[in-house]
Amino acid sequence: MTSQTLREARKYEEVFEKTIKKGERPEFHLSPRTGWMNDPNGFSWYKGQYHMFYQYYPYESKWGPMHWGHAVSGDLLHWEYRPAALAPDEFYDMEGCFSGSAIELPDGRQMLMYTGVSKEHKHYSTQGEELQTQCIAIGDGMDYEKYEHNPVLDAKDLPEGCSRADFRDPKIWRKKDGTYCCIIGNRPADGSGQILLYTSEDGFQWEYKNILVSNFNRFGKMWECPDLFELDGKWVLLTSPQDMLPERFEYHNGNGTLCLIGDFDEDAGVFQEMHNQSVDYGIDFYAPQTVLTPDGRRVMIGWMQNWDSCGIRSHEEPWFGQMSLPRELSIKNNRLYQKPLKELDAMRCNKVEYTGVTVAETVWLDGIKGRRMDMLLTIRQGDPQDLYQKFAVRFAQNERYHTSLSFRPRESILKIDRKFSGSRRASIHQRRSLVNTLDGELKLRIILDRFSVEVFVNDGEQVLSATMYTDQDADRVSFFADGTAKIDVVKYDLA
Ligand code: FRU
Repeated sequence: MTSQTLREARKYEEVFEKTIKKGERPEFHLSPRTGWMNDPNGFSWYKGQYHMFYQYYPYESKWGPMHWGHAVSGDLLHWEYRPAALAPDEFYDMEGCFSGSAIELPDGRQMLMYTGVSKEHKHYSTQGEELQTQCIAIGDGMDYEKYEHNPVLDAKDLPEGCSRADFRDPKIWRKKDGTYCCIIGNRPADGSGQILLYTSEDGFQWEYKNILVSNFNRFGKMWECPDLFELDGKWVLLTSPQDMLPERFEYHNGNGTLCLIGDFDEDAGVFQEMHNQSVDYGIDFYAPQTVLTPDGRRVMIGWMQNWDSCGIRSHEEPWFGQMSLPRELSIKNNRLYQKPLKELDAMRCNKVEYTGVTVAETVWLDGIKGRRMDMLLTIRQGDPQDLYQKFAVRFAQNERYHTSLSFRPRESILKIDRKFSGSRRASIHQRRSLVNTLDGELKLRIILDRFSVEVFVNDGEQVLSATMYTDQDADRVSFFADGTAKIDVVKYDLA
C-alpha cells in the first residue's frame, strides 16, 4: 500500500522533473530528480542493475523531511529515475527516513534498512527529543512496503549511556553462512562517535553484539554513515565524522571522511585498526557507500557536497546535490587508492594529445576546452636553469571565471581553488593537499562534468573533488608556470 505522502512525492517529482533541461544537470553524475539530494543510500546490485537510493527532499532545493529517491543504472554512469521509494509517513519515521543500505534476500526480494526519525514515539517518552530507530522496507526494485514490526532496533537495543538521538545509518550485509550483520553510527557518553555491530539470523530480528570501533574523540565527533568491507586482503571501514579538527594536511573540511584500514574478525566482531587517512582531499565529499560489482570490483560513490559548503548554490535553483563519480577502490602501500570507474573510458571521444609542451607564463592549447572532459596531465620541470616554483591549470574559464589547480613543487602542495567559480556566497572555496611527486613528476587526471571537477592524483593515490556552478560558457583551459615546466596532455570529451 502506497501512502498518501509517498503518492504526492511521486506525482510531484514526475511533473517537476520536466522543468529541468538535460544540459542543466550533470551528464554522468547522479543528481536529484527534483529538489534536494544528500547521502547515497542502498547502493546495491539487484536484478541485473545497480540501484542507487538517496536522501531526498523533492519539494525544495534544501534539506527537509527526508524521503528516499531512487535511480537505476547498467553502468553507474547513465541513470534512470525510478519513483521515490520511501516517504516519512509512519509514527517511527515522521521526521524523516534517514540513510541506510540495501541487500537482496534469499527469496529474491530487496530489503532496505534505514533510520526512522521521530519526535513522538508510542513506546518511549521523548519530551520533544529526537529518537532514531532502525527500520526495514521490503520491495521488488520499484515499490517498497514498510515492515509491520518496525522499528527493528531502537533505544532498548543500545548499550548503557549511548545516545538514542544519534543512532543512525545502518549498513547491512549477509555473511557467507547466510546470517546477517549490520553496523550503525552512534554517540556514546563521551560525546564523540562509535560504530555498533548487530547480528541477525534472518535480517528481521536483530541483536546487539558489540562496539566495533570507538572514536574516543580522536577523529571529529559523531560518526555517520559507516561502511565496512574486505579489500585486497585487508578490511576497510569508511565513516563520515562530524566536526573534524584538521591534522596537518588531513581532515580539513569540518564534516569529513575517514578511512580506517585494518583487520576484521567477522565471527568475533572485532576490528583492529592499523592506518587512517582522509577519503577525499578536495572540498565536497561526504557519506560514501560502496557496492561489489558482479565482476568483483569494490566501487564507491559519495555525496559530492559537504554540510559545511552547501551554501555554494542558492535554494532558488531547481535542484541541489550530486553524487561523485563511481570510483574503483584498491589498497596499495597501506593506502586507499581510487580510480575512476573503467566504464567511463567508453564515454571518451575527440582525443587531443600534446607531448612535451613547454609552459613558461600562460599557454592555451588548441582543442583543449570543455566542461565535460577527461584530461590527463603530466607536469615536470622543464629547464634546470629556470625551475618553476608554481604551476597552475585553470579550467571552467572565461574572462570572468575560472577554477584552478596549482602546484608548488618545493612544498609538494596541490591546491584547488574555486573562489572565482561564480558563487556569490561564502563557502569553503579552497583546499591544499600534500601530494607525492614521482621523480619530480606529478600526474593528474582531471574529470569535469558541467558542475564538478574530480582530480585523481598519481593514479589514484589521492582524489580532490569540488562542485562549481560556473556558467557553462566558461569552458576554456589554460596552463601557467612562473619558470619553465614541461607538460604532456591527453584530453577527451565525455559524451
Ligand atoms: C549524513 C547524514 C546522516 C543522516 C542523513 C540525514 O550526511 O547526516 O547521518 O542519516 O544525513 O539526511
